[in-house]
Amino acid sequence: MLSYTYEFIYPQYSLKRTKTRRHGGDVLLDNIQQIKKIDSQNMFSVLEKFPEHCEDAIKRTESLILPERFRGPEKIVVLGMGGSAIGGDLFRNWLYDKAEIPVIVSREYILPKFVDKETLVFAISYSGNTEETLSGFLYAVKKSCMIISITSNGRLQDFSRQLGVPTVEIPSGMAPRAAISYLFIPLLIIFEKLGVISNAREEIIDAIELLKRIREEIRLSTPTEENIAKKSAMEIKGTVPLVYGQRYLESVAKRMKCQFNENSKSLSGYDFFPELNHNETVGWEGPEIFTKMFSVILLRDPDEPPELKNRIDITIKLILEKKAKKVHQLTARGSTKLAKMLSLLYIGDFLSVYLAILYGVDPTPVKIITRLKKELEKKIDIVSSIEKEIRELAKK
Ligand code: PA5
Repeated sequence: MLSYTYEFIYPQYSLKRTKTRRHGGDVLLDNIQQIKKIDSQNMFSVLEKFPEHCEDAIKRTESLILPERFRGPEKIVVLGMGGSAIGGDLFRNWLYDKAEIPVIVSREYILPKFVDKETLVFAISYSGNTEETLSGFLYAVKKSCMIISITSNGRLQDFSRQLGVPTVEIPSGMAPRAAISYLFIPLLIIFEKLGVISNAREEIIDAIELLKRIREEIRLSTPTEENIAKKSAMEIKGTVPLVYGQRYLESVAKRMKCQFNENSKSLSGYDFFPELNHNETVGWEGPEIFTKMFSVILLRDPDEPPELKNRIDITIKLILEKKAKKVHQLTARGSTKLAKMLSLLYIGDFLSVYLAILYGVDPTPVKIITRLKKELEKKIDIVSSIEKEIRELAKK
């Protein structure tokens, strides 16, 4: 009755189809020909290049020349939206116990009041044309912040050139979220260049080696029975996935949630331990007619401190196992914080694309975002007025 209700509302997400949809004796996720028809813009091949994109991102950033005055920033603001902002969250979590500088991620038209000339602002927009980011960029220019741009194109590239803002220029033609390597790795390398941290490069290289090994396990050509990302997609199909992170895996949980939204075209949510024990956990007391629509994906760290491990295990036993449709656990790999974060992120990215395939949807297009941006532009052309102001400021 419960799954009938869900299938009635979302017939394309029916659980029954997982078992019955077969092609030439293979399950859909092993039918490469069929998958290529659904994945018309090749999200899989971009995903498979993730480790090499990380290597390229290092190279592109290493050649960046930074003004001497950028050394020793007091505060960091990462400015961006959606797929271009998530690298800022990963950076914030990664840096948490490494540097004595506060980092915030601003997904807004304006920057926080505290920004000043001692603030380093990373302005990140893959397309270079996102109005919130351009507006924040103008704000940072007016406040004489130290600014570094990361973009593949558009006005952000143009404004940065006009004002002489150092820019990491990254390849165009990808979906912004698929360019995460280029939108995240540069932040680490820049911090090392500025002397704020050491060994970032080493940690990245180590993580890339791990990603290459994981790729073999989760790539399209690896059959379902040996492929954890394919198996997980089959498990959670037909449910609304809630991703629960912990401590520094909060950003990875958010990333996974956004990948379910944009790649799988599915509603999703995220939260993190220990905070979720003080609010979200109570929501699971609700009626099963609602709770059984959700599955939970828990992001685990094999080196969890005992107090956290205990908390998560108890939460699973006490309520999640009883009230969620599925409880699924994914364990981080690797020995460094970065490797652990990226290992889960990579599995989550593949998982969300396999889920898209199971739903028969093309993972790349995000029609509603494109439409929304156009509709907004028709009403108020914020970008043109920013453009005018930047032109004036560039003359000074
Ligand atoms: O994944 C996406 O397409 C979006 O989340 C975009 O990243 C977001 O709309 C911002 O655009 P951009 O990344 O080009 O600044």
